[in-house]
Amino acid sequence: MNTQKTVKDYIRTIVDFPHEGILFRDVTTLFADPRGFRMAVDQMLHPYAGQRIDKVVGLEARGFILGGAVAHQLGCGFVPVRKKGKLPGAVISEEYTLEYGEAVVELHDDAITAGETVLLVDDLLATGGTAEAGIKLIERLGGQIIGCAFVIDLPDLGGRERIEALGMDVHALCA
Ligand code: PRP
Ligand code: HPA
Repeated sequence: MNTQKTVKDYIRTIVDFPHEGILFRDVTTLFADPRGFRMAVDQMLHPYAGQRIDKVVGLEARGFILGGAVAHQLGCGFVPVRKKGKLPGAVISEEYTLEYGEAVVELHDDAITAGETVLLVDDLLATGGTAEAGIKLIERLGGQIIGCAFVIDLPDLGGRERIEALGMDVHALCA
């Protein structure tokens, strides 16, 4: 019997969070485990080995934890996409749709130089609204997105199709 743990084995599911009927994928248990965390970071990087990556862009908040580790491993810079009002310098903004209502994410307008190659990183792809907003911000600065890497893809919510329709390479470790 193969007893090797996979990334998915480290992720906990919380029932009825944040609302009744939602099965919430909790990656804090993955991050807390040294083997699990390293496995996730290594697997997120794997498809892009040998490609030039100038910047890793992480989406708030869990994309910061993964993206920082991925950038460290690649020896490249890390750039945060933050929710509105958190970045101190001049920003560009994109609005996106949440389950209920709208939200805005921002990127420092000098965080990426035109022509730089970028890997976008987040923990989870659901509807793809957050990732799409991040992609638009990066592309507005002229960044060339090499790929979009996630730990989890929730396939029923259509995020992968939405992001692939933008011409992006989507890489997820588990569903
Ligand atoms: C979650 C998750 C992704 C996004 C995915 O973040 O970490 O960033 O939702 O959903 P989508 O594909 O439907 O856009 P959340 O908005 O809960 O923010 P947080 O990490 O700051 O809690
Ligand atoms: N876990 C974490 N973030 C999320 C989820 C989830 O299950 N669904 C939408 N965003």
